[in-house]
Amino acid sequence: MRWTVVVYLLSFCSFSGATPPDIIPELSAFASKISWTSKIQSNNTKLNSDVTLNTLEMIRRAGYPAEAHVVTTEDGYLLTLHRIPGGNGSLPVFLQHALLCTSADWVILGKGKALAYLLADQGYDVWLGNYRGNTYSRAHTSLSPSELKFWDFSFHEMGIYDLPAMITFITNMRSQPLHTYIGHSMGTTSFYIMASERPKIARMVQMMINFAPGVFLSHMESPLKHITHFLKEFEMIMRLFFHDELLPQSDLLRFVSKYVCNQNLDTQKFCADIIFMTCGFDREQFNYTLLPVILNHDPAGSSAKTILHYNQVYQSDKFRQYDYGLLKNLFMYHSPEPPNYDLANITVPIALFYGSNDWIVNTVNVKKLHRILPNVVDIYEVPWPNFNHLDFIWAKDAPKLVYERVLKIMREKYPNNAVSTE
Ligand SMILES: *[C@@H]1O[C@H](CO)[C@@H](O)[C@H](O)[C@H]1NC(C)=O
Ligand SMILES: *[C@@H]1O[C@H](CO)[C@@H](O)[C@H](O)[C@H]1NC(C)=O
Ligand SMILES: *[C@@H]1O[C@H](CO)[C@@H](O)[C@H](O)[C@H]1NC(C)=O
Ligand SMILES: *[C@@H]1O[C@H](CO)[C@@H](O)[C@H](O)[C@H]1NC(C)=O
Repeated sequence: MRWTVVVYLLSFCSFSGATPPDIIPELSAFASKISWTSKIQSNNTKLNSDVTLNTLEMIRRAGYPAEAHVVTTEDGYLLTLHRIPGGNGSLPVFLQHALLCTSADWVILGKGKALAYLLADQGYDVWLGNYRGNTYSRAHTSLSPSELKFWDFSFHEMGIYDLPAMITFITNMRSQPLHTYIGHSMGTTSFYIMASERPKIARMVQMMINFAPGVFLSHMESPLKHITHFLKEFEMIMRLFFHDELLPQSDLLRFVSKYVCNQNLDTQKFCADIIFMTCGFDREQFNYTLLPVILNHDPAGSSAKTILHYNQVYQSDKFRQYDYGLLKNLFMYHSPEPPNYDLANITVPIALFYGSNDWIVNTVNVKKLHRILPNVVDIYEVPWPNFNHLDFIWAKDAPKLVYERVLKIMREKYPNNAVSTE
């Protein structure tokens, strides 16, 4: 059983627990399908030439202007903000990615489909954030990513430092508030922390749209929840072998994606199934042609502490600060239990989008959040029964199922600021 922990960490999932029955035959058939000696199949790479590009290059190849800005947080992290600049008078919008993702996830679907491009087409000034620790934000004014201290953060610090730094940078540059903040999963988690801990910054945001709001997780179905039984091992392995850094883009992962996942359609299906096992099965909405691009960007790295903090949220069913244990809690918070984030005082208008087959953010947990928030302007279950956690950024029909409604809400909420439509 113990060695499965290692598999769990390395392959981003566990084969114990809630294993869908159709995985087993695929698993055994898998070994025979990989021929380690065969040449790289370059066909996939040709089909999709976004494979080796970074976010800026992908945006430019799609025919849009692109900028990168580096922002320093109060605690010294250097974050990269990507931007598709709008014209004079355009309204700034900010898109924030999920755990182990990057700004690239907002453009992976391509021109005419990806949310960042749809917003740019509508005349918005589109900003794409990158949290500390991911591929584009692995730098600090005095710490190196090889030091443990660099990785001593969770989504708490992203909420009280990263989002304020990025949002302040944009609103100062544009001399106006953010028209809309759109967050996916951890992009929502940290927003709620910012809004409760630093309400002045939250007042620079006129509306917030959630894709899979990651606030309460007690009904999580993903096998990721089984990490609860291996927390000590998880911490130890992450400390000993990975200096607390979680799944960065690495040569190993690139190797796996190139030589294993992209060999043929069967191996692609297998690799996609590993992703589905963490977030919910939806083979119909998954575009297998995109797999090489996705695996070139994700997983993109974070801290082990982020997983531990999420696990505490799952176990305690409370949205609160990091639990260090009794003694350190007394020292840090002057209380035996960590303090809750105050959701009931968040005044920014909020729209909640969720999927009914999301194995990480369950409908029950979304409804609980809805009951607590004082200013929910829209709550929307995506009308696709298998819609999962990652379909918000990758689904073939995400434009029709999700983005159309996003654009509509953004137009209707502020009709006086009507943006130019083509
Ligand atoms: C790419 O696919 C075609 C047929 O689909 C095949 O003839 C060709 O050998 C493949 N190329 C490589 C490098 O595998
Ligand atoms: C945008 O504004 C700047 C200065 O505010 C001005 O110099 C420039 O000509 C404007 N561009 C357009 C296309 O209106
Ligand atoms: C939060 O809300 C409560 C009651 O709704 C109020 O008494 C309190 O002052 C608020 N706190 C802040 C920081 O606004
Ligand atoms: C899948 O992705 C490829 C590459 O971006 C694209 O050309 C194709 O239209 C996509 N298919 C669907 C059904 O969205």
